[in-house]
Amino acid sequence: MTKYVLADESTAIDALIIPLFEDKKPSTIANELNGVFDGLLQDVVALKDFEGKKGQTALLYTQDATTPRVFLVGLGKQKGLALRSWKQAIGAGAIAMQTKKAERISVLLPKNVIDAFGAKKLCTETVVAMEMATYAFDAFKEDSAKVSLLKTVQFVGDFSTSVKNGLQKGIGDGVHIAAGVNFTRELGNTPPSVMTPTLLADRAKAIGKGNAKLTVKVYNESQIEKMGMGCLMGVSKGSVLEPKFIVMEYKGTDKVMKPSVLVGKGITFDTGGLSLKPANYMTDMKFDMLGAGTVLGIMKAVSLLGLKKHIIGIVPTCENAVAGDAYRPDDILTAMNGKTVEIGNTDAEGRLILADALSYVAKHYPNAKEVIDFATLTGACVVALGNERSGLFSPEDTIADKLYTKSQDVGEQLWRLPVGEEYSEAMKSLVADIKNIGGVGGARYAGASTAAAFLQYFTMDHEKGKAAYPWAHIDLSCSYYNGKGHPWIRHGANGFGVQTLVEYLR
Ligand code: BES
Ligand code: MN
Ligand code: ZN
Repeated sequence: MTKYVLADESTAIDALIIPLFEDKKPSTIANELNGVFDGLLQDVVALKDFEGKKGQTALLYTQDATTPRVFLVGLGKQKGLALRSWKQAIGAGAIAMQTKKAERISVLLPKNVIDAFGAKKLCTETVVAMEMATYAFDAFKEDSAKVSLLKTVQFVGDFSTSVKNGLQKGIGDGVHIAAGVNFTRELGNTPPSVMTPTLLADRAKAIGKGNAKLTVKVYNESQIEKMGMGCLMGVSKGSVLEPKFIVMEYKGTDKVMKPSVLVGKGITFDTGGLSLKPANYMTDMKFDMLGAGTVLGIMKAVSLLGLKKHIIGIVPTCENAVAGDAYRPDDILTAMNGKTVEIGNTDAEGRLILADALSYVAKHYPNAKEVIDFATLTGACVVALGNERSGLFSPEDTIADKLYTKSQDVGEQLWRLPVGEEYSEAMKSLVADIKNIGGVGGARYAGASTAAAFLQYFTMDHEKGKAAYPWAHIDLSCSYYNGKGHPWIRHGANGFGVQTLVEYLR
C-alpha cells in the first residue's frame, strides 16, 4: 500500500512531479524552478522541449541527491482545467516514475489548482488518480515482471493551515474510493475460468466479512429456480458453472431510509451461446461481468467510507456458454415477474439475466429511492460512443441529470441516450410478451436503446401501468481498454462508474 502524506521536507525522495500550465510563461516557470534546481530548466524551456501542453512530459535529472529526478507534466491551458485532465496528468506522472522504480515521490500541488477544485476534493481525486495509475493486473506474471507500488507520496506546495487540513481530509477518502475502483478492475481482469459466478459471489461475501453494516446473501441454482428466475436459468443452462444470485445490503445508518438499489450484469464469459460470437468478437468477453464488478466495487468503497446510507447491491451471475442443452433461439423463457420472452438471439443474454434481477427488485424493494443498473450490454453502445464514455438511459430527468453531473465532477464521462415508445414497440413479440432483440427501422438499428427498452419493461408495475421505481441504466461502453491502455492507466478493466456512483450516493 502506498502511503500518502503532506510534505515532510526532511526526507529525500526519488522523484518530484511538477504539473505545469501551458499559458504560464515558460520563462516564469524557469525562474521559479531554477531557483530551486539551479538553472535546470533553462535548457528545456529554451529548446521548447517542454511547453506545458496537455499530455506533454519531460524527465530531468538534477544532480541533487535529495531530489534526483524532476518529472514535468503538462496541463494545457489554465482556464477551465478539467479534473479529468488533471487526473490524467498526475496518473501519467505516477506511472512514469513507477516505471523508473521510484518508491518515494513528491507531487507539487499548484495553488491555482487547489483554488480551482478545493483542497479536500483535489487531494481525494489526486490520490484516486495515482492509485489507479499504479495498479497493474500482474497476478499471473513472473515476480520480476510485476510492478512495485510507490511507497510514499508526499504532497508539496505553498499550503495555508486550512488548505493543509483540507488536503489531509482528502487523502483518506481517496484511498477508500480507489480501493473500490481497483477491486472492480481486478475482478474484471481475472480470467474467466477463474472468475466464475461462485468466485464472484465469494468476492462479494469477502467485502461483508467483519463489517456489521454489510450483509451478503447468495442464492444457488435451485433457489434461483424456485424464485422463478426463468431467464437467468435459461442463459445459464449451457454452462457447467453454477449460476448465483447475489444480494448485498449495506445499512450505514440506523435511520430508516429508502434504499438505493444497484444492479450489475455478471456474465463471467459471453460466448454468445448458440448464436455464437465470431472469434474476434469473443476475446475480452471476460469483461462481461463488469456491471457486477462495478456494483461490488461501489459496495466496497461505500463500506470503507462508512457512508450513512442504505444501499442494496444485486448481481445475477452466470456464464453464457455453448452446449447441447444450451437455450436456443426460438425458445421462450419466463421471467420472475411472469412475463414471457421470445429468444431471437442467445447473444442478447445480459438483458435476460437483468430482467430477473429487475423483477426481483420490484418484488422486494418496491419502495426503492432509485434503481440503477450497470451492464456491458451492447456493442451498439460502443459503436455509438467509443470507449471513453458510457451510455446513460433513464425516463427520469432528475436522476439522469444528477448522474451526468456527478460523472463530470469526478472526471468520468456519461452521455444520455434515449429510451422511448418506438424502442419499446420494437421489442414486442408475435409469440410471447416481448422478444430479446429488436430494431427501429432496421434489424439492428438503435441497438443500445432497444436493449434499454427491454430492461425498462421489467422496471414496470404492469398492474398499475406505471414505473415500479425510478430507474436508470448505464451501458458500460467504456469499462475496459482492450489495447495498451493510456499513459495514465494500464490496459484492462478501468473501474468506470465506481467514482461516479460514490459521488452520486454520498
Ligand atoms: N456483452 C455483449 C455486449 C458487448 C460487446 C459489450 C462488446 C461490450 C463489448 C452482449 O451480451 C451482446 O453480445 N450484445 C449483442 C446484442 C445483439 C445480439 C442484439 C451485441 O451487442 O451484438
Ligand atoms: Mn452477448
Ligand atoms: Zn454479454
